[in-house]
Amino acid sequence: MCLVEIGLAMVEKSPDVVWHSGSVGPDERRKVTKNSPAVVWLTGLSGCGKSTIAMALELALIRSGHPAFVLDGDNLRHGLNSDLGFSAQDRTENIRRVSEVARLFADAHIIAICSFISPYRLDRRNARNRIEPHAFLEVFVDAPLNICEQRDPKQLYRKAREKLAAGTPMGFTGIDAPYEPPENPEVHVKTDVQTVDQCVESILQTLRTRRILLQGDA
Ligand code: ADX
Repeated sequence: MCLVEIGLAMVEKSPDVVWHSGSVGPDERRKVTKNSPAVVWLTGLSGCGKSTIAMALELALIRSGHPAFVLDGDNLRHGLNSDLGFSAQDRTENIRRVSEVARLFADAHIIAICSFISPYRLDRRNARNRIEPHAFLEVFVDAPLNICEQRDPKQLYRKAREKLAAGTPMGFTGIDAPYEPPENPEVHVKTDVQTVDQCVESILQTLRTRRILLQGDA
C-alpha cells in the first residue's frame, strides 16, 4: 500500500500505477538549459511585491538564456486552483499542488519562480521537502503590513477592513488571517527600502553562488 498526500488527507495511491523513468538524464538537460534545477519560492504579504520581483527575475533569466517560468498565486487561481478559496485548508492544498507543479518544472530544468503568499511555515516546509535541498530557495519578500496596506493595488485591504468592521471577516492575510514569516530564508529582501533590481540581483547572486546558473550574465 502506498499513501499519497491530497489536501490534509493521506490517500491510498492505486497499486496499479508504475513509475516510468525517462531516457534523458540531468547532464543531458543541463547541456541544453545551462542551469541546474531550481525552485525560487517567493513568500510574503499581498502587495509586498512578490509578483513584480517574480516577473523581473523571469525576464532577467530568460534574457540571459535560462529557461524560467513564473507560477503566480493570482494566475494559478484562474485555472488549476480555481476551485480553492482562502481557508487554511484550501491554502494548504494550493501550496501542495503548486509545489508538485514546481517539482515537474525542476525535473525539466526550468527555473520555477513561485509567487504565493504561502502564509504557513508548515506548507512552505512541505514544499521544500518535495524539492532537492540544493534546488530550493526560499525568498522572504518583506514589507511592513502598513506599507502593503498603503499600496493596496487591488483594493483588497480596504475591502478586508470594511468586511471586518461589518462583522463579516473575509480571512485576509495580515488583517484577519495569519502570516508566519520565514525563520531562515535563503534570501531576504525588503521592498520598502530596496529597488526591484536590487531584490532581483540578490536572488540571482544566490543562484550563482549555488552554481545553479552555469553560464550567461544573469
Ligand atoms: S495563498 O495564501 O494560498 O498562498 P495566493 O498567493 O494563492 O494565496 O493568492 C493570493 C492572492 O489572492 C492575493 O494577492 C490577493 O490578490 C488574492 N486574495 C483574495 N482573497 C484573499 C484573502 N482572503 N487572503 C489573501 N489573498 C487574497
